[in-house]
Amino acid sequence: MSAPKKLFIKTYGCQMNVYDSERMAEALGGEGYVETKSADDADMILLNTCHIREKAAEKVYSELGRFKGLKAEKPDLKIGVAGCVAQAEGEEIMRRQPLVDLVVGPQSYHRLPEMEAKAREGEKVLDTDFPEEDKFEKLKNRPKAKRGPAAFLTVQEGCDKFCAFCVVPYTRGAEVSRPADRILREAQDLVERGVREITLLGQNVNAYHGAGPNGDLTLAQLIWELDKIDGLERIRFTTSHPNDMQDDLIEAHGTCAKLMPYLHLPVQAGSDKILKRMNRSHTAESYIRLIERIRAARPDILISGDFIVGFPEETEEDFQATMDLVAEVKYGTAYSFKYSTRPGTPAAERPQVDPAAADDRLQRLQALLTKQQREVQDSMVGREVGVLFEKAGRLPGQMVGKSDYLHAVHVAECNRQVGDLARVRIVSSGANSLAGELIG
Ligand code: 5AD
Ligand code: SF4
Repeated sequence: MSAPKKLFIKTYGCQMNVYDSERMAEALGGEGYVETKSADDADMILLNTCHIREKAAEKVYSELGRFKGLKAEKPDLKIGVAGCVAQAEGEEIMRRQPLVDLVVGPQSYHRLPEMEAKAREGEKVLDTDFPEEDKFEKLKNRPKAKRGPAAFLTVQEGCDKFCAFCVVPYTRGAEVSRPADRILREAQDLVERGVREITLLGQNVNAYHGAGPNGDLTLAQLIWELDKIDGLERIRFTTSHPNDMQDDLIEAHGTCAKLMPYLHLPVQAGSDKILKRMNRSHTAESYIRLIERIRAARPDILISGDFIVGFPEETEEDFQATMDLVAEVKYGTAYSFKYSTRPGTPAAERPQVDPAAADDRLQRLQALLTKQQREVQDSMVGREVGVLFEKAGRLPGQMVGKSDYLHAVHVAECNRQVGDLARVRIVSSGANSLAGELIG
């Protein structure tokens, strides 16, 4: 038998890319590849890229440049670019960087084995089609390897919302939901391989409307189906849009014990003028009312958000409205970005905000968000939470896991295993994590 070929995958961007990278590794596993953690000994390097902000896209070209020496030493090394930069700029990548052998868009990963074979024969291969088929179904021939206790599962892809700043509707295409039976089968399979927590993924996950036996299922209905799987202990989902937060999903946060008290619900901005120009079709007020309803269903829920500052035509007053909204909502965690012009999106053509003003706003917003994050984390001290252990800690006898609220928790003198779920009392709050002790 020949030695296995080595595959190095580097993943940028969102959790959907993390999931996709796992699927690509499994697809190429069928072709005799095993994953390696170092590009230096790889036979194939895949960059799974993100196009959401300019910096993310530029990173790909600088990373590719770094592989020049490797390729010169190892002419058989194949280099591929996957993900959203591949989708958006496939031909340009091939032109700009001749050492790239294959370019594969997010809808074509199931064709990777054929593409790899062609690349091995010296062909340059590019596939950025949007086929009308479920690529995940075609990616099924994976080995039954054991898994860590927490896994991602993509249930929905693409987006029809067309926020004025965003490339996703162009790179990931129209909104499509996977049929429920396939998701349930995949979830069952994950549980059989040791998974106890599943995070359902989608660019617009709460717009989920996949086919079920008696018509389409909502995300809440899908969650209730998953709830029936023995051995599956925790369910999460991300990323949601405020406009798709339906009543049954809000209610499930109060009634489904497996659904964790954490919700990532991006608002982007707090000024109605800016929200309108962003094409968000919700207002600051409607978002705040929505958060109130969610908190009425599940009072302890931790709210997470995304923010953009320096969107075209944002004034200091508009920015203050974002700060006011943040002060009112009180986020447990958040991601904030300076607006990045994406060619081809409507906002790219509009008058841009002075970059120094945008930098200054980002700093102020991040200071407020960090303070809130810290307060919410500190407020966990003295509370009892569930913790799913994911790995051994650095200290002897220590284990590290995630709380129901997704905080990292370190437990000393812990006699539990990876994959165990335990009740833990939080005793202190550190820079980025909590410390706790087992109860009972
Ligand atoms: N500039 C800055 N941030 C952006 N995001 C999406 N597009 C842009 C852009 N052009 C942010 C949004 C989104 C998150 C995934 O990335 O906040 O929710
Ligand atoms: Fe992008 Fe808006 Fe769709 Fe989110 S909802 S993926 S920000 S277009």
